Amino acid sequence: MRSFALGIVAMACMLAIAQGGNFFQDADISWGQGRGKIVEGGRQLDLTLDKASGSGFQSKSEYLFGKIDMQIKLVPGNSAGTVTTFYLSSQGATHDEIDFEFLGNVTGEPYTLHTNVFTQGQGQREQQFRLWFDPTKDFHTYSIIWNPQHVIFAVDGNPIRDFKNHEARGVAFPKTQPMRLYASLWNADDWATQGGRVKADWSKAPFVASFRGFNADACVWANGKQQCPVGTMETAANTGRRGRAGAGSWWSQDLSDMSYRRMRWVQRKFMIYNYCTDAKRFPQGIPAECKLR
Ligand SMILES: *[C@@H]1O[C@H](CO)[C@@H](O)[C@H](O)[C@H]1NC(C)=O
Repeated sequence: MRSFALGIVAMACMLAIAQGGNFFQDADISWGQGRGKIVEGGRQLDLTLDKASGSGFQSKSEYLFGKIDMQIKLVPGNSAGTVTTFYLSSQGATHDEIDFEFLGNVTGEPYTLHTNVFTQGQGQREQQFRLWFDPTKDFHTYSIIWNPQHVIFAVDGNPIRDFKNHEARGVAFPKTQPMRLYASLWNADDWATQGGRVKADWSKAPFVASFRGFNADACVWANGKQQCPVGTMETAANTGRRGRAGAGSWWSQDLSDMSYRRMRWVQRKFMIYNYCTDAKRFPQGIPAECKLR
C-alpha cells in the first residue's frame, strides 16, 4: 500500500517535470509592450496581436542540441493575416535557424504549418503541411529534435520532417552555433493568408495565441561551454543508434522504421508544399539534400 502511494507520488513528480517548466524561470518576453503575458502562475504564456503591434518571447538559455517541446493553442476564429512562430535561431549573417510557423486563415479554413531550415544563413528549404486536427481548439505539442545527425520536426510526437546531416555530401548542417528559442505572434497580412489577398480583421483584435509546457531537454550553452543533461551521451552509447528510452535519448534519435513510415504517411497525406519538388525555383538544379535519403 505504502509503496503504491509512493509510486503515485513519484509519478506525479515525473509528470510535473514532463509538463515543462515555468515561463517566469525559462523565458523573457522580448517585445510587444505588455502584449505578451505570463499567466496561471507561470504555466502559460499568452501572446497577443492588435493593429499596433504583435508580441514575442525568447528562452533565457541558448542551446547546442536538444529536444525542445512547446504546447501551442493557436488564434481561433478568423486568424487571417496572423502568423504564430516557434523557432530556434542563432545570431548573425551566417545564422542557423529551425522554424515552425503557423499561418492563420479565415474562419473555417485550415491553418498552414510552414517549416524551414537555415544553415549558414541559407534557407529556401520550405515544407508546408496541413494539420490533421483543429489547432485552435486545444493545446498540441510541437517539437524540434536537434542532434548531431538530424533535425526532426514532430507534431504530437509524430515526426513530419527530418533534415539529415549530409555534411559529407557538402550540405551544411547546424552544429556549431548555439541557438535560442523564440516565439511570436505578428501581423503578416501582406503575404501570409492566400498570398496576402486576405487581410487581418482588426475588429476581432486582440488576437491571442497561448503557449504551455515549454520543455528543453537540451545541452545549454553558457560561458562558451556546452553543458548537457547528465547521461545524454552515455545513453546514446548504451542504446546504440536507435536509442529510444531514457534521459537524453534525443541525442541519438534516429527515425525507427515505424516512425519513418509514419512520417512518410503524414507527408503523403498532409504536405502541401515541398521545395524539393519545386524545380522551377531551382533552375540550377534542386538542392543536394533532396536527392539523398
Ligand atoms: C486558407 O484557406 C484556403 C482555402 O481553403 C487555402 O487555399 C489556403 O492554403 C489556406 N491557408 C493560407 C495560409 O492561406
